[in-house]
Amino acid sequence: MAMLQSIKWENNVIYILDQRLLPEKIEYIKCTQYEEVAKAIENLSIRGAPAIGIATAMGIAIATLKLKAKTPEKFLEELKPVFWRFIKTRPTAVNIKWAVEKIEKLINNNFHKSVQELKELIINEALRIHQEDIEINKSIGENALPLFKDGCTVMTYCNAGSLATGGFGTATAPMYLAKERGIKFKVIACETRPVLQGARITSFELMHAGIDVTLISDNTAGALLKRGFIDFVIVGTDRTVRNGDVANKIGTYSLAVLCKENSTPFYVAAPLSSIDLKTPSGEQIPIEERNPDEVTTIKGIRIAPVDVKVINMAFDVTPAKYVTAIITEKGAFLPKHIKYLNDEKRLKNFRLKL
Ligand code: MRU
Repeated sequence: MAMLQSIKWENNVIYILDQRLLPEKIEYIKCTQYEEVAKAIENLSIRGAPAIGIATAMGIAIATLKLKAKTPEKFLEELKPVFWRFIKTRPTAVNIKWAVEKIEKLINNNFHKSVQELKELIINEALRIHQEDIEINKSIGENALPLFKDGCTVMTYCNAGSLATGGFGTATAPMYLAKERGIKFKVIACETRPVLQGARITSFELMHAGIDVTLISDNTAGALLKRGFIDFVIVGTDRTVRNGDVANKIGTYSLAVLCKENSTPFYVAAPLSSIDLKTPSGEQIPIEERNPDEVTTIKGIRIAPVDVKVINMAFDVTPAKYVTAIITEKGAFLPKHIKYLNDEKRLKNFRLKL
């Protein structure tokens, strides 16, 4: 299935699909400096937890090309401000920190190598993270596929799709697989205010793939759930923590509570790169607050009084008790068992059959 790519690396240049322009325009931003990549993450040209993790790895790789250090010690020292620049772009998705830590560890494990060799290792690592993400998407897709029964209707929120990742998305990966395998299903995409990732991106990419998608305003979700039109909801995550609490796009929590009220299963598709076992609970997850203009305007058109007070939290936390299962590349688990992810022996007892 041909898909638009959110990010590409070609001859030491990074091309980022400018998702702010979707669905009207398909334009790539050419980045030769890490600062351009960091800005593209901040301004949502590239967004979605796995995609910004990949962009961070590639951004660090491009930064190394300009470094003059002659020793690994100096090289690492020169890279530290670059790491911080990326960590500061967006605080909620743990994938940025995950990518930085992966590269830092790679350097520390190869301190005996030359600076030139380190640069090559980092570029290869960034490309590997990208490729691996595509494989992870496919595994999540396989693991979630049993949920897709002929004739089912599934709801999703925000965009946890191909454009939020390296390949097929997380919440959308089983949709692409189900389509490929001839399963008949419908998708309801919530528009996702304030910046409309559902309307602009999810409905666009699913239509592009020939998937039956219907767009709703966010406040229609409850009515559809109450009428029993939705078999299950599946969303992505920016950070899932040790106790199974899940941070995702603002509004996810309301949707999860509505699911509980209407006895509709609520699933979270979560690659290991977005699972943060060091953070004990959702209360410690930093929540990004963004520019009020995102709420007072739509595509540059003002919809609220000038100077009105605004709260613009980009994410919320859904407590584990609302989550039916977390679907990872290692299988599906109850939120309370996510803490065993690195303990294969115990984990195998907790794998769910969906
Ligand atoms: O602000 P965004 O567009 O980066 O928010 C994206 C989401 O909330 C996604 O659901 C999440 O990153 C998972 S993407 C596989």
